[in-house]
Amino acid sequence: MEFEKNILCIGAGYVGGPTMAVIAAKCPRYRIQVVDIDKERIEAWNSDHLPIFEPGLHDLVRKTRDKNLFFSSEVQRGIQDSGIIFVSVNTPTKTFGQGAGRAADLQYWEKTAREILSYSKSSKTVVEKSTLPVRTATAMERILNGNTRGMSFEVVSNPEFLAEGTAIQDLENPDRVLIGSRETPEGIKARKEIVEIYANWVPRERIIESNVWSSELSKLAANAFLAQRISSINSISALCERTEADIDEVAYAIGMDSRIGLRFLKASVGFGGSCFKKDILNLVYICENYGLEKVARYWQAVVEINDWQQSRFIQNMLANMFNTVAGKRLALFGFAFKANTGDTRESPAIYIAQGLIEERAQVVLSDPKALENAKKDLKKFEDQIIFEADPYRAAEGAHAIAILTEWDLYKTLDYDRIFDSMAQPSFIFDGRNILDHKRLFEIGFNVFAIGKSPLKHF
Ligand code: UDX
Ligand code: UDX
Repeated sequence: MEFEKNILCIGAGYVGGPTMAVIAAKCPRYRIQVVDIDKERIEAWNSDHLPIFEPGLHDLVRKTRDKNLFFSSEVQRGIQDSGIIFVSVNTPTKTFGQGAGRAADLQYWEKTAREILSYSKSSKTVVEKSTLPVRTATAMERILNGNTRGMSFEVVSNPEFLAEGTAIQDLENPDRVLIGSRETPEGIKARKEIVEIYANWVPRERIIESNVWSSELSKLAANAFLAQRISSINSISALCERTEADIDEVAYAIGMDSRIGLRFLKASVGFGGSCFKKDILNLVYICENYGLEKVARYWQAVVEINDWQQSRFIQNMLANMFNTVAGKRLALFGFAFKANTGDTRESPAIYIAQGLIEERAQVVLSDPKALENAKKDLKKFEDQIIFEADPYRAAEGAHAIAILTEWDLYKTLDYDRIFDSMAQPSFIFDGRNILDHKRLFEIGFNVFAIGKSPLKHF
């Protein structure tokens, strides 16, 4: 069969994999190749054990793989075959040199751009799928168009707004798709080519076109705004704990104002994930570079509140467990940064587990999907941690349970049974406000939630 378009995606990660699987499923007339330098990851994509867990992903991959969706490590061939190249390699926070700890590390992106240039035999459209600092497209254009072989490259920005755990749903039914390009005739032509892909299933009014800088910046700004809502509600949660106000009631009352809205107002132990912190720090760094010190400080505070919320959680456990957890078994329920994913990047659980280990507690980690990643994240402390997928066994003999991820399964456990198996007095610290606190208190637990008055038996 003759395919209408040949599309390549470089980077088979959380973004590249699901995005290409959805494009392949929605556009059977396109041939989609996904390449990655990590051979093991590619093997996993070609097996029954996909490298990432995402509801609905496996079905899509099964339907499209080896029909119009192909995973391989042949970067060179992929580049030569394709007219459109999505780049979704990782852009982590820089760990060295200028901007360390804040700026985006663009080395993989730049390396990929150079690879595209060296293997290409014809002109191409290169799509920024990775989150990048505003104005990255200029650097890419300069690298790509610095060739003397008569090829021209258009760089288009098409940021990804999918959230993990709902990636397939978000891709199939997005609030909007954003596509930015240069406003030259060639730029607009490249932009339209990308619009055409999404128009196969996204209503035209939800496909937004803009200049390339607006598109790049919108991604950073969207994540900063989302994270800011969480830090805002978490800051108020601390005040609730002092004033007998209840954070869920407050969130509901303010969220019913249609100007504010109810979503993303769930108080928690803090936000995690690969994007929020990284993107805000990047925004802060960019603002500083443009001399916008006040703007930088404003957004920096969103990250500071989030760090504080996590350390507050540890302090709260300590203070309420008679100021010592040394030698006490503590069961942490949930390690993923949110429910329905095995991803643990920047998960508050990493920080909290470490804090409790430093206090010499006997930490038991339980999670239905994230224990493999947890083992890697806490490799340094391997000997001091017990990993136990079964929450009942994890809680046996424990002094306290801390809920760190909002997995549904934790809502329906038999807490009578758990209480009977624990050391007394037993404590529950609900870092996600998902449990029935009154009922737990009646069972006999001392219950501490985020932004609520504690329910204590002493
Ligand atoms: C994405 C985006 O790229 C990032 O900018 C955004 O902020 C978060 O989401 P993600 O898909 O989550 O990243 O990253 P990851 O799962 O690490 O996948 C990136 C893949 O690119 C990895 O599999 C890595 O092996 C691959 N890669 C990296 C290459 O194929 N070539 C390289 O040169 C570098
Ligand atoms: C986020 C953005 O939502 C997505 O648009 C972007 O493309 C990538 O970054 P993701 O990190 O996958 O997606 O998850 P998200 O659902 O946004 O949750 C991020 C963190 O915030 C999680 O740790 C979550 O538990 C926490 N959170 C979210 C809260 O604590 N309270 C809330 O009300 C919502």
